[in-house]
Parts: sequence; structure tokens; C-alpha cells
Amino acid sequence: MKKRKIIIDCDPGIDDSLALLYAIQHPGLEVAALTVTAGNVPVELGADNAFKILERLNRLDIPVYAGADRPLVRDFVSAQDTHGMDGLGDGSIKRRSAATLQPETASDFLAAYFREQQDTSLIALGPLTNIAQALRKNPLLGQHMERFVSMGGSYKSHGNCSPVAEYNYWCDPHAAQEVYQKLGRKIEMIGLDVTRQIVLTPNLLEYMHFIQPEVAAFVRTITRFYWDFHWKYEHIIGCVINDPLAVAHFLHEDLCQGFDAFVDLATEGPALGQTVVDAYDFYHRPANAFIAQEVSSQLFFQDFLAVILEAPQEMIAQDLRTLQLG
Ligand code: BDR
Ligand code: CA
Repeated sequence: MKKRKIIIDCDPGIDDSLALLYAIQHPGLEVAALTVTAGNVPVELGADNAFKILERLNRLDIPVYAGADRPLVRDFVSAQDTHGMDGLGDGSIKRRSAATLQPETASDFLAAYFREQQDTSLIALGPLTNIAQALRKNPLLGQHMERFVSMGGSYKSHGNCSPVAEYNYWCDPHAAQEVYQKLGRKIEMIGLDVTRQIVLTPNLLEYMHFIQPEVAAFVRTITRFYWDFHWKYEHIIGCVINDPLAVAHFLHEDLCQGFDAFVDLATEGPALGQTVVDAYDFYHRPANAFIAQEVSSQLFFQDFLAVILEAPQEMIAQDLRTLQLG
């Protein structure tokens, strides 16, 4: 199978880390680089967590670039209340190696990379600050990438930072607005409408333990804190794992159903960070985004678990069906 090349911009982060485990181990993907932005945790901590995942997978050959340490305009507000002070659920995951960051900043790297290469897609799992900065440096960025998938925003689902705003775009709404206005390539928006349908439940985790206890133990360690948060604020048992769905959507284009529309961002006032999705074409503007609306959680977990547990996909699919998991 020919591997498709991607760069992942992220803010690890519990669910970012799950997305990295999935993408890096997926046989259909070649992860060319990781770029890190301030988001769930300050950028240095995020980069540290990226290295922890690379170490776990024995993939320290993948270069890591640190980027923006704060949003373009707003003050930086992390999501350490959700992800733990260390960004990995305060589970005491240690870093063992002394691998170092690349010398360039994330935005310099992205701007230069997409001047040369035209065979790579970008998957953004955090605030869009690095992407907006790279776009300022290389206005052809969008035209030179194959696809751009962004976990962020929402259409009908309520927000997770305010009644209407999702964290990544709420954290840096100006960057998100700039990217939606200027990228010049359709943004595949994997927002809360679909990610809220992807819940890692206690039963799923228990199942993972039977298949690959070591991986399950790691996932339990990093998600435990997240579960408590979800119970307190969303009243669900388990946790929504947003970011891996962006990777799954990239791999399987028919996994999420949705529609194309013009999207703008609210950058001030009570709706700050909200994605204004013009589903009814009030503005008569060309669509700049694909809005994912529905997803089959079972199909998602089938691929995600097969990859991170290194188990046969048919077996996982069969188990999920008979045990009515996912
Ligand atoms: C997004 O915000 C972060 O907390 C998660 O990592 C995810 O990217 C969900 O709103
Ligand atoms: Ca994230």
C-alpha cells in the first residue's frame, strides 16, 4: 500500500496523543513531521509530550518543531483543567530520551516545506496559530498541500468552552478566521458535532485490556483525568476523544457524512470562537469548508483499535459488533 504523507500540527494533549499513536502506527500513513502549538498546554510541554509518544513508538526519527507560544491576539488560555497540568492526564508519564527539537520554528518549517512539496496533507489538532503564521509567510501554503483537515468548531452541537465555542477555535479565533478566509483550500472541519459521537467507554477500555493490556494500561493512565472531567461537565461515563477522528476522516473519506458551506469565525463578544456555518447560503459566498455532521462510531473504533492494539481489523470489527461496543 502506498503511504500517504501527512504533517500533524498538534497540542498534546490527551486526545492528540491518541491521534499520534493512531497516525504514526497506521500502515497507510507516513508522518513526515510534527509541529506543536500552544493549546491544551504551553508549547514546551506539548513538545515534550510529542516526544513521549514518539519514544513509546520508537519513532524518534520523526522531526518535531515547536511553534507559537500564544494565540495571535488573545491572551493564552490552556486547557490544563481538562488535560491535566502535564497535558497527559497527570499520569506521571516520564520522558526517557534527550531528543531535541528542530531548530526552525513550526511556522518557518511549514512555510518552507509547502514551498517545495506538493504531495503532503496537513492535519491540525490544535488551535490554528502555527498554520496562520505559516500562511502569512507562504501564501501558497493551501494550494501546495493535498488536503487540510482541522479538528475544531461545531455546527449544531454546543460548545465546550462557551455555550457556542469549541476549544481550538476559541483559544485562537483570529488564527482560525485567518485560515478559513485565506487558505484557499477547502478546510475539512471535524467539529464537535461528530467528535461527541466518539466516546471511549469503560467497556471499550476493558475490551482493550483483553487484547493488549500494556497499550490499554497506557490509555487508561492518560485518560483517567479526562474521564473525571467528562463526568463532571458532560455527565457521560467515558471520554470524548476528538482528535483521532480527524485522522480517521483523512484516511476514510466516507466515514463522516456532511456538507460543504461557507464558514466564518466570531472573534469577539459572547460568541467568541464560534464557527458561523452558512448552511443556508445567506451570504452567497463560495464554500470554504466541509462540515462533518454524522459518523459511525463503530467504524471509527474498528480502525482505531486495530491500529493501536496491533490486532486484526476483522477480529476487532466482529468483537465490536457482538459485544455491541463502539
Ligand atoms: C479540542 O480541544 C482540545 O482540548 C482537544 O485536544 C481537541 O483538539 C476539542 O475541543
Ligand atoms: Ca488537540
